Formats: sequence, C-alpha cells, structure tokens
Amino acid sequence: GIIRFDIIAEYLPMMLKIGVKTTIQLTVISVSIGTVLGLIFSILRLSKFKILSFLSAVYVDFFRGTPLLVQILMFHFAIMPAIGRFPSIVSGLVALSLNSGAYIAEIFRAGIQSIDRGQMEAARSLGMTYGQAMRYIIVPQAFKRVLPALGNEFIAMLKDSSLVSVIAVQELAMTGSLISGRTARPFEAWIPVAILYLILTMVLSRFVAYLERRFGKSDTR
Ligand code: ARG
Repeated sequence: GIIRFDIIAEYLPMMLKIGVKTTIQLTVISVSIGTVLGLIFSILRLSKFKILSFLSAVYVDFFRGTPLLVQILMFHFAIMPAIGRFPSIVSGLVALSLNSGAYIAEIFRAGIQSIDRGQMEAARSLGMTYGQAMRYIIVPQAFKRVLPALGNEFIAMLKDSSLVSVIAVQELAMTGSLISGRTARPFEAWIPVAILYLILTMVLSRFVAYLERRFGKSDTR
C-alpha cells in the first residue's frame, strides 16, 4: 500500500523526544566515561609495570574481541543482577561505556605513541618526572591529534547504541520496534528511524571533517 504520512506525523514526536533524545544521551554519556577509561587504560598499557600493562591489555582485548551485543546481554542478565537491581538503562550504559573505553584506549595508545620521543626526552631533561611529562607535554598533544578518531568513535557508538534495544532501553531503535508493533505499519516506523540515524551521523561526520581541517595540520610548523 501507500505510505501513511499521518501515522509518521503522529509518532514522529515520540521518535524525537524519547528515541533520538535517549540515543544522544546514551552516546554522550558512554563516550565521555569511555574517554576517561580510555585515557587511564592507555597510560596503564604503556606503563613499565608489566602487570598493569597486562591487565589493561586484557580489558581492551575482551571488550574489542567479543560482540557488543553479547556484552550488553552479559551485563544485563548476569553481572548487574549479581550486584543488585538495576534498570536496563544502567546495564546498557555500563556495557556501552566499558566497550567504548576499550576502543578509546587503543585510540589514545596510538596517539601517545605517535608523539615524537624527543618530546619526552626534552621534558625529562628539563627535570620533569615521567608523570609530569605525560600530563603536561605528551597527553595534551596526543589528545589534539586523536580528536578526529574520537569523533569517529562517537559516530560508531551512536549507531551501535541501538543494540541496547535488545534489553528494552527505549532509545531510537526501540521506538521503531514499539511503533511498528503498535501500528502494524513497519514502513512508517522503520524508514523514519533509519532517516533519523542518518541525519545524526551526517551532522556528526561533518563536524569530524571540520575537526580534521582544524586540528589536522596544526602540528606542522
Ligand atoms: N560492531 C562491533 C561489535 O559489535 C563494535 C561495537 C562497538 N564499537 C565501538 N566503536 N565502540 O562488537
């Protein structure tokens, strides 16, 4: 049959006010927590203490080497219930944040290793400790260099956060499911959901392209 635009118009506010809003919240929170985790684990990974480096590698390998879908199910049905009673949005946030942290740890590790070793040597010869040199000289330069990669991680999480719909977190994909079930109009539910994701990723990828132009060349002197 034909597309019922009246059904789309009726449910669009729900897609935007619940779906898009929750998807953006999930993504912003998990990539923010993931950035903190990623920074910590990338520095541990590069530590001269072999045990810290090893534990950090185990964390990164586990979360990058198993499907995000399985991590979400594992946290929601096994790990979180063993700790207490949590709503599915909490399980979802824990899984997304830990997953993103592992990907961001690799982004930071590559970024830190890309900084010329002369920077560390110069900082140390000025009397800085290893920690001071990392904090004031290496990490700030690495951070600037990996901004576009962090932007790409944000875009990836925006799409991959749709996996938490399997534990009934009401983000954008879940609203598609609910609306499709309620109206028995799958086209009117899923086509707008897909277009909304597309709009979000297109806006963000333009922003990442801007970051690349803004920060890409600024190191070259
Ligand atoms: N698609 C991959 C998976 O299901 C990666 C998901 C997470 N991606 C990310 N950039 N944090 O395991």
